[in-house]
Amino acid sequence: MKEVVMKSDLVPDVYEGGFEVWECTIDLLNYLHVHNDVVKSSSSVLDLGCGSGLLGICAKQMVPEGRVHFQDYNKEVISNFTVKNYHKNCGGHQSHHVEFLAGDWSRLSGKFSKYDLILSAETIYCIKSQEKVLRVLQDHLTDDGVAYFASKRHYFGVGGGLIDFQNLVQSSASLKCEVVWSCETGLFRDILKVSRC
Ligand SMILES: C[S@@+](CC[C@H](N)C(=O)[O-])C[C@H]1O[C@@H](n2cnc3c(N)ncnc32)[C@H](O)[C@@H]1O
Repeated sequence: MKEVVMKSDLVPDVYEGGFEVWECTIDLLNYLHVHNDVVKSSSSVLDLGCGSGLLGICAKQMVPEGRVHFQDYNKEVISNFTVKNYHKNCGGHQSHHVEFLAGDWSRLSGKFSKYDLILSAETIYCIKSQEKVLRVLQDHLTDDGVAYFASKRHYFGVGGGLIDFQNLVQSSASLKCEVVWSCETGLFRDILKVSRC
């Protein structure tokens, strides 16, 4: 694992990039600081594909009594990065409302609960995984829950991106979505809000 991380940003199905802080995480953090009612009105939050865990940490800091679950593909990322960041930043907050989960989205259904806010950055870069993300939303958003995805519009050379995911969500009978923030300099990036129809 150490060798894989040193050699590459991301190796599909082996290491999914969790040891870096990717730029769309910063976009979503900035968005949540401006629109802090999004977090303040939520009592159960999932940081999906968390890596550093900054989104879940932000939620815990804004609502210390809230429940926050952190999920990453790699258990090494969870134990060596997410948990350490969490304790550095939220050490004083109650941790019995906090859980850390590792594994592929397709195998986590039994471990996730229902969330009224799902936060996720740089997780929809792969077309084949987008179906798994959609399933997580369908199964684990509460009836009036919302999810926010911060993503590049296209991931050149990888295949996925926000446009493809937006189309996938719109083709589902139970979910709707809208772009709530965009940046059109450099690599185009957006934030997509998803909720139930
Ligand atoms: C590029 S990293 C982004 C990490 C972090 N959200 C950020 O923006 O800094 C993509 C993350 O998506 C998650 N991921 C990707 N594919 C996954 C899969 N099939 N199952 C579970 N998690 C996956 C991994 O946890 C990985 O850390």
